[in-house]
Amino acid sequence: MSRRRRLYEGKAKVLYEGPEPGTLVQHFKDDATAGNGEKHEVIDGKGVLNNRISEFIFTHLNELGIPTHFIKRMNMREQLIREVEIIPLEVVVRNVAAGSICKRLGVESGTRLPRSIIEFYYKDDKLNDPIVAEEHITAFGWANPQELDDIMSMAVRINDFLCGLFMSAGIQLIDFKIEFGRLYEEDTMRIVLADEISPDSCRLWDIKTQNKLDKDRFRQDLGGLVDAYREVAQRLGILSEADNALATGPRLVK
Ligand SMILES: Nc1ncnc2c1ncn2[C@@H]1O[C@H](COP(=O)(O)OP(=O)(O)OP(=O)(O)O)[C@@H](O)[C@H]1O
Ligand SMILES: [Mg+2]
Repeated sequence: MSRRRRLYEGKAKVLYEGPEPGTLVQHFKDDATAGNGEKHEVIDGKGVLNNRISEFIFTHLNELGIPTHFIKRMNMREQLIREVEIIPLEVVVRNVAAGSICKRLGVESGTRLPRSIIEFYYKDDKLNDPIVAEEHITAFGWANPQELDDIMSMAVRINDFLCGLFMSAGIQLIDFKIEFGRLYEEDTMRIVLADEISPDSCRLWDIKTQNKLDKDRFRQDLGGLVDAYREVAQRLGILSEADNALATGPRLVK
């Protein structure tokens, strides 16, 4: 794998040049970070699980007609994707209050919101990804009003799909973060879903026990992160019980 040209190394993933122009290889690492990289650990098996879970979700979204960058999974840790021009926004959809909204607005964690809320954060690590309004986004030209409309309607559709998907697995989708990009094809441009959707980027609570099955296990030092991610994959029908070897047995290296 190392023969490919590495284009970008982020906190959780590496992007390599893809086999065809306009394609990239997205490699899922085992690294977990929180608080903009202040807290960092390598958690054996996380990358493999996120690759599989994100593949599963993006495949379903593509089938539903929600355009994504995903082409196919290549191996245990890598997927082939279309290269896009990332819109510098983290789009957060919230169904239940948790995390930063609780502090910011004084809402108790676990409170169901009156309706789903979409928030935008400007992707800039130096600024700690500050929350921004639509006004900032269009005034600074990060996205134009038409693009923002597309992003918001796709975010709502993705939320509806994910809520149903996780509900059927006995999991409540509290909130999630997504990224979008511009895909240029011949002389057209369209907005597509990029990056990943995994327990790293969602808050997932077990409906019966309220147990956290997401990256908050790491943020809050609860332990058992890989077990929780594996539980999510198994409940979605991605992994069978026999795949427990993924995290505990001999490592499948690809
Ligand atoms: N299809 C794509 N084309 C180009 N870049 C992409 C695509 N999908 C995701 N990316 C970018 O690839 C990077 C993935 O790496 P990772 O998630 O580890 O980054 P990160 O450490 O979270 O940093 P960042 O603040 O840039 O998101 C992100 O910067 C993401 O915006
Ligand atoms: Mg990221």
